[in-house]
Amino acid sequence: MTDKTVWLVTGAGRGLGVHIARAALDAGHAVVATARSTEAIITALGEHENLLAVALDVTDPQAATAAVAATVERFGQLDVLVNNAGSFQAGFFEEMTPEAFRSQIETTLFGPVNVTRAALPQMRTQRSGLVVTISSTAGIASTGDFLTAYAASKFGVEGFMEALATEVEPFGIRTMLVEPGFFRTELLSPQSTQYAEPTIEDYTDRTRQTVQAWRSMDGKQGGDPAKLATALVHLSALPEPPARFAAGADAVDVFEAKAATLLAQADAHRELSTNLAHDDA
Ligand SMILES: NC(=O)c1ccc[n+]([C@@H]2O[C@H](COP(=O)([O-])OP(=O)(O)OC[C@H]3O[C@@H](n4cnc5c(N)ncnc54)[C@H](OP(=O)(O)O)[C@@H]3O)[C@@H](O)[C@H]2O)c1
Repeated sequence: MTDKTVWLVTGAGRGLGVHIARAALDAGHAVVATARSTEAIITALGEHENLLAVALDVTDPQAATAAVAATVERFGQLDVLVNNAGSFQAGFFEEMTPEAFRSQIETTLFGPVNVTRAALPQMRTQRSGLVVTISSTAGIASTGDFLTAYAASKFGVEGFMEALATEVEPFGIRTMLVEPGFFRTELLSPQSTQYAEPTIEDYTDRTRQTVQAWRSMDGKQGGDPAKLATALVHLSALPEPPARFAAGADAVDVFEAKAATLLAQADAHRELSTNLAHDDA
């Protein structure tokens, strides 16, 4: 890659995506900022000679193809795709509607699948590129209630990216998963978080308390999205970007706890685990 690269960022009308687009522009890169509303992009980022605003709902595969085509038409290439768009369907699994669960998967698993599928032919032609996917610590470990759909989508995107890495590496294409802890964006605001309607008496008290706990975190998250965006621009320029980046001290804790848990689980029934082969194998 040359010093000036071409970025495509999803969900760049508000939240972390705006910071990523701004940090990439500040570093001298060209940016295709995409969002469901292009007006939101211009309001957030203003006009810039290296900026192209494109409408993209990540659940729409054809719009993803069109966004990549617009990128190549304007800037001639696509170097860094950032799968960032996200939302949060929150609730106890039994109280969540199937539609809400599916909508989480459509946005935060099939969204990255759709946009990555659209981007790879261009990156393969170039024999270079980086696919960055903003996952979550909830893609490493589920650390609380209300996370079934969100964690399912984030664990899904972890598997998708990890499995994709070896397939595209021969073409000079890299992948990088980013697992943020709590960052102060709009994710926990009513615009991005939808709580399941309380419907089951057995859950009533816990639902009330858990909704209150999540709501009380809105606006108080420790992580600074501007610092994360700058870190991502830095990491993306490395000759060997990390396969995973724990974003935040809380994320490092989650990684370490999960690693320790997995080691303990591998060991817990070692005798039984290691004696499951055919007798002649
Ligand atoms: N903030 C955190 O603490 C945290 C922690 C871990 C992971 N993350 C992940 O970080 C990413 C960015 O989230 P954020 O924290 O910046 O949240 P945010 O402030 O709520 O922003 C979410 C962005 O995603 C966009 N979006 C939602 N659905 C979309 C769709 N179908 N198509 C296109 N854009 C869509 C939203 O656009 P609209 O304005 O159109 O809704 C908005 O720009 C997400 O993947 C999230 O899961 C965040």
